[in-house]
Amino acid sequence: MTETPRATGAPRTPSTLVTGAAGNLGREIVDALHARGVRVRCLDRNPAGARPGVESVVGDLTDPGVLRSALAGIDAVLLMWPMLTAAPAHAMLAQLSAESPTGSEAPRVVYLSSSAVDDGRDRQTDPIVQVHADMEALLSDAGLRPVVLRSETLASNVRGWAEQLRAGDVVAGPDIARTAVVDERDVADAAVTALLSDGAQVGRGPHVLTGPEVLGRADQVAQLGTALGRRLRFEAVPAERARARMLADGRPEALVAALIAASLHRPESGRVTDCVERLVGRAARTFAQWAADHAAEFD
Ligand SMILES: NC(=O)c1ccc[n+]([C@@H]2O[C@H](COP(=O)([O-])OP(=O)(O)OC[C@H]3O[C@@H](n4cnc5c(N)ncnc54)[C@H](OP(=O)(O)O)[C@@H]3O)[C@@H](O)[C@H]2O)c1
Repeated sequence: MTETPRATGAPRTPSTLVTGAAGNLGREIVDALHARGVRVRCLDRNPAGARPGVESVVGDLTDPGVLRSALAGIDAVLLMWPMLTAAPAHAMLAQLSAESPTGSEAPRVVYLSSSAVDDGRDRQTDPIVQVHADMEALLSDAGLRPVVLRSETLASNVRGWAEQLRAGDVVAGPDIARTAVVDERDVADAAVTALLSDGAQVGRGPHVLTGPEVLGRADQVAQLGTALGRRLRFEAVPAERARARMLADGRPEALVAALIAASLHRPESGRVTDCVERLVGRAARTFAQWAADHAAEFD
């Protein structure tokens, strides 16, 4: 792969790298950039996530060699850190901060964080939020001046219910605190704005991205039922039973512990912000809209 020299005259559209590109949010960001004609490169560890017409680097985000190839010629990076610890981030930070052989500066970094990060706390409520707080601090301490997008619970998480809903009308799982669930397409559009604008236009944030309405699990299940034309019901499962079921499903123990801690300790949030509207220029979508647009996935 060859380096793209940085333009010296008129501003040009940045070349972008999207990490976690095959995931629920990453796919939307890649599609949104590609649709705008922006040069986008995907980094994911699963080759099946590659899409026609989009550059792809396959490998692990924690592998310095993979990152070196992925970052060559890149001006702006959408960084996700879907890990349970920030410890392996040091190699990634070194790659992000390194000057390229052509002397170009470090790329602009947009970090996808969590709305549950509380700047007033020394320790966050659970391990997943702690990782995001640690990553924000590491990126800033490395002098990378990240634009921080703190996302609320993504609507796409309910894809995890599809199997249960093919078998019946009940969604059983650990209850979690009510939040203003946000459509991942809105987070993607906000991320595109942040990637393509300079710092003066969007500021460094943190931008807390929420949907327009505070919802619990039972509300989401009911709204999904309306979209599917079915009467659906949520059944809260006690933490110990949920833990045993996730382990029996083969999920790694550390991930199960982190998910259960989140369900037990993450506080309810009634916060609804206008950050999507400010970054994207239109109102955030409702969860009912998400359910209507994705109903076919639950057939
Ligand atoms: N979901 C939410 O409610 C929410 C809320 C706030 C913030 N966030 C943050 O937003 C990000 C995306 O969330 P999502 O729901 O879209 O997650 P997702 O669907 O699970 O996607 C994560 C993607 O990252 C990839 N990945 C994981 N570990 C990797 C590694 N070591 N190297 C390279 N790629 C790796 C995964 O690949 P594999 O398929 O190979 O695992 C997957 O494609 C995460 O960082 C999450 O912490 C999520």
